Amino acid sequence: MGEELKGRVALVTGGTGGIGTAICARLGRMGARVATTYRNREKAEAWQKQMKAQGQDVAIYACDVGDYDTCVALIGQVEKDLGPVDILVNNAGITRDTTLKKMTPQHWRDVICANLDSVFNMTQPVLTGMAQRGWGRIINISSVNGQKGQFGQANYASSKAGIHGFTMSAAQEVARKGVTVNTVSPGYIATEMVMAVPEEVREKIIAQIPVGRLGRPEEVAHVVAFLASEDAGFITGANLAANGGQHMH
Ligand code: CAA
Repeated sequence: MGEELKGRVALVTGGTGGIGTAICARLGRMGARVATTYRNREKAEAWQKQMKAQGQDVAIYACDVGDYDTCVALIGQVEKDLGPVDILVNNAGITRDTTLKKMTPQHWRDVICANLDSVFNMTQPVLTGMAQRGWGRIINISSVNGQKGQFGQANYASSKAGIHGFTMSAAQEVARKGVTVNTVSPGYIATEMVMAVPEEVREKIIAQIPVGRLGRPEEVAHVVAFLASEDAGFITGANLAANGGQHMH
């Protein structure tokens, strides 16, 4: 794909995580100027140094993606520093896995806020500018579990299913303006989030993946890069799965 995103600005939420890191690196290699949000300054600064050592310059910004006003301020700062946001990857997400029997309103709210409110909070402030400039890419990271549900993830699966409803609606609103909005639904990827699942449970899940292994973060970043590319302009409102065949529909 060469340097086809040269001159573009990409904002990736939660870029310091497993999948986020691969997305930042990939968009950077395609020539985009990349910015990401973080919650933990120490972790983010160490991450930024590591990226730099690999030749990747990523701008980092403290941001609670669950808070609209904070997101508006962050986007203002990114636009001041790097220029208007052309590509937004809503990647930030958390889990609070527990059965409904034990799920508290806090477990529910934390996940809906970080995973779903965040998609509104970041997209709403950038969408009009993208439409006015006649080019934009919004890529929302959902999950296989938003498509099929998962024992212990009523909160997470709801947030991830909600993301695609958002994608399909936003896609219709800006389709004529050169802006595409798509969902990527990764399956179980080898990241800290998946490694936090008890080993016994994880092994059972891996046994249900036809490809026979966990996915790699780079394999998700590849789908994001494809959707961000120029030639993906006719793909909008889609939900692309990268799940090793675990769920087909
Ligand atoms: N289907 C049916 N029954 C199940 C089950 C399942 N998948 N999993 C567990 N059970 C049963 C258990 O056998 C147990 O039955 P008994 O009481 O008869 O023995 C009962 O349900 C309770 O199970 P646990 O003891 O495991 O309950 P727990 O509260 O200790 O743990 C849990 C529940 C935290 C949800 C745990 O099962 C778990 O972590 N599951 C994995 C959830 C998961 O896949 N998370 C994905 C995280 S990664 C991610 O989210 C990224 C992504 O997008 C894919």
